[in-house]
Amino acid sequence: MQEEKLIEEIRALAAQRNALILAHNYQRDEIQEIADLTGDSLGLSLAAARTDKDVIVFCGVHFMAESAAILAPDKTVLLPRLDAGCPMADMITAEGLREMKQKYPDATVVTYVNSTAATKAETDICCTSANAVQVVRSLPPGEIIFAPDRNLGRYVASRCPERTFHFWPGFCPTHENLRPEAIKKIMAAHPGAPFIAHPECQPDVLELADHICSTSGMYEYVRNHPGPKFIIGTEMGILYRMRKENPDKEFILAGDVLICPNMKLIGLEDLRDSLLNMAPRVTVPQDIAKRARIALERMLAVPRES
Ligand code: 13P
Ligand code: SF4
Repeated sequence: MQEEKLIEEIRALAAQRNALILAHNYQRDEIQEIADLTGDSLGLSLAAARTDKDVIVFCGVHFMAESAAILAPDKTVLLPRLDAGCPMADMITAEGLREMKQKYPDATVVTYVNSTAATKAETDICCTSANAVQVVRSLPPGEIIFAPDRNLGRYVASRCPERTFHFWPGFCPTHENLRPEAIKKIMAAHPGAPFIAHPECQPDVLELADHICSTSGMYEYVRNHPGPKFIIGTEMGILYRMRKENPDKEFILAGDVLICPNMKLIGLEDLRDSLLNMAPRVTVPQDIAKRARIALERMLAVPRES
């Protein structure tokens, strides 16, 4: 009953504020359910850039709301929980990246969108897990500094062996915790079920994978593959829509460590309060936004791969 009332309030407020509610694929089930659009980092950035709504409520983590604020500077961008951060994004600073650039002055800097606006401002081109290989292949020959995710970086390097990479040693704690021993046990219990892994997983996990892709790539893979069972190597929030869209297929999470506490912070009450109070608002200082936008727009100009 309480939930129904909250849902009604959120719908009414969203209409009143002319707001678009975006939810990342790792958000809580009820947040995905009420969102106008769910998606991966790239899909949501594109939606933010294209919307004609006045307000974007980003149900995700801080760097995603920053990207929306950079790409849609005339909109009000709300993040219902300001404490929803990304530990990987916080593993690098703009200053640290500047120092690395001094060490490799000829390298092109490719930065995963899971980074702060200040880090993006030091970047030549951004990437997401959906387009990282394409982004690197679109660049002229030469060395690459890949930041901050060393796992995604190593995966991209394995697909672009002609390049020399310098990796920043960051990682996603959620995906990093997934270990091959646990997956092998699950694989033995479900023989024949393909294992699909996110490139934020460690290389020894990716070696076991039948398919490696972003969260949006995973939806596409399970839709087109007869299954009937799949082992999923990414954050558990992805299962909600996967099960809803494929009721005749079975999805098994590759490990119980696959939960991102930051992605679980936003609840319906937070979403309602955010629309009611038009806060917390995410803004990016103009000088940083200007430079970060160049890196994001270069990325958006590269064709997508899942
Ligand atoms: P994608 O949805 O872009 O694959 O991102 C994964 C992620 O960890 C976002 O924080
Ligand atoms: Fe950051 Fe990992 Fe959580 Fe994504 S899943 S927000 S990369 S900590």
